[in-house]
Amino acid sequence: MASKKELVQGLNDALRYEYQAVVMYNTYAAAVSGIHRGELKEFFLDEIADELGHAELLANKVSALGEEPATEAHDVDLPPDEEAMLENVLQAESEAIERYTELMAKAEEADELGLANDLHDIISDETTHKEETEKLLRGRTAR
Ligand SMILES: [Fe+2]
Ligand SMILES: [Fe+2]
Repeated sequence: MASKKELVQGLNDALRYEYQAVVMYNTYAAAVSGIHRGELKEFFLDEIADELGHAELLANKVSALGEEPATEAHDVDLPPDEEAMLENVLQAESEAIERYTELMAKAEEADELGLANDLHDIISDETTHKEETEKLLRGRTAR
């Protein structure tokens, strides 16, 4: 059975990764160069609202559980080219899905069913992000 402490630690770690995602997408949108800059900049910027929404939900839940929400982001790697940026995005989104799947199981164990349902919705968002990134990468390697 997941303890409340364990759940809060998991939520705060996920929160740091959401802040990382916001910084990553904003930075990549600013830094991406080359003839695909326009489309990639829009693609990166479009993700920010979802990730901020996830961060808002997580911070609210940590606070509702009587603890302090994390205030810092995990580090962001800034690679020199668009291909590597997309690979980083793909990895981050894949890891987010794994992280939330584990966290959802913990929420269910702790009888936090509303939270489990919210995490389920976040998994849907991250899956869409991952699949859209895969499609972009597929288009690029087929070029
Ligand atoms: Fe997210
Ligand atoms: Fe995402």
